[in-house]
Amino acid sequence: MKPNPTILAIESSCDETAAAVYNREQGMLANELFSQTELHKQYGGVIPEVASRSHLEKIGSIVDGTLKKSGKTLADIDAIAVTNRPGLPGSLLIGLGYAKGLAFGAQKPIIGINHLEGHAFSACIENDVPFDHICITASGGHSSIYLVKDFGDYMTLGRTTDDAAGEAFDKVAKLLNLGYPGGPIIERYAAAAEFKDYFNYPRGKKDVLDFSFSGLKTAVLYDLVKRDAFDLTTKTLLADQNIELKQQVASSLLVCMADIFVQKVALAQKMYPHVHAVTFVGGVACNAYIRARLKAWCDARNLAFFSPSPRYCTDNAGMIAFVAAYKLEQGHVDGYDLDIGR
Ligand code: KG4
Ligand code: ZN
Repeated sequence: MKPNPTILAIESSCDETAAAVYNREQGMLANELFSQTELHKQYGGVIPEVASRSHLEKIGSIVDGTLKKSGKTLADIDAIAVTNRPGLPGSLLIGLGYAKGLAFGAQKPIIGINHLEGHAFSACIENDVPFDHICITASGGHSSIYLVKDFGDYMTLGRTTDDAAGEAFDKVAKLLNLGYPGGPIIERYAAAAEFKDYFNYPRGKKDVLDFSFSGLKTAVLYDLVKRDAFDLTTKTLLADQNIELKQQVASSLLVCMADIFVQKVALAQKMYPHVHAVTFVGGVACNAYIRARLKAWCDARNLAFFSPSPRYCTDNAGMIAFVAAYKLEQGHVDGYDLDIGR
């Protein structure tokens, strides 16, 4: 493989149809996507069948548009990268099938990329992040904490045992009839309540690196019931008109989530005191309040803190292209029989 390859990457693991063209020297030449959020909004979450159908409709124009924007043609591309795990099987298959067709037709190497590795190194796209560092990945589907030793060399220190962090925001937002996706709306409501902790929701176990968020959602629900704001039998929000209460719930939830992230980073840093930096990545890392809390914690300990621009926090193909570039340089290539994985 030639040094400094130009990569075309495709990402379709969940509800974004995305493509990117990347070359380390020239940078991210294009990073495009179609977001299906509007399609799934009415259901309050991602519907797999709707997602794969939409990927199928959009993938051709997204890949073509991305190539065009990058100023490259397929002939300039040295390898095609595609997210092949983990994700919704029907969605992954659309991206993988398309990538395999392109790669085989043009006789280019293909390389399957782990979506989570994409997130884990997304802070390195725009920043020179020193190794070793601690990475927190928090999205709608995943929440993990890693010790990152080098490009492609990382160890999972903890992961969620139930819901993902983004799911906690999405589910509480649904409980409050606020809409989907919940994270940005909860952040807005929390700002209106000045990021104060009104209801002191449980922070979970302090001495483990695994996350658990489903209990938090249940705690919010039962606290609302206790306040006569939610009826469990009819599953209705009785306080739907009480904006102040919604803001206070959102604010308490956000402060609680930020406390949990700070708690986990503190524990990880205690176990691995040699680390130089902390990164915060994934869709939830769009949250300015949590970023600020983590940064303040790092600043107080002379640790560097990095979080990607929002376009590299939520699902995107740029992070897949970035990982593929170093994988190729490390000699990883897959065969045309590449399949989706877990
Ligand atoms: O990374 P992402 O686009 O997709 C997955 O791989 O899951 O993350 C989407 C998640 C959603 O749960 C959404 O509520 C959350 O990221 N999110 C946020 C914010 N913006 C998006 N959570 C908290 N605060 C935000 N500002
Ligand atoms: Zn993701």
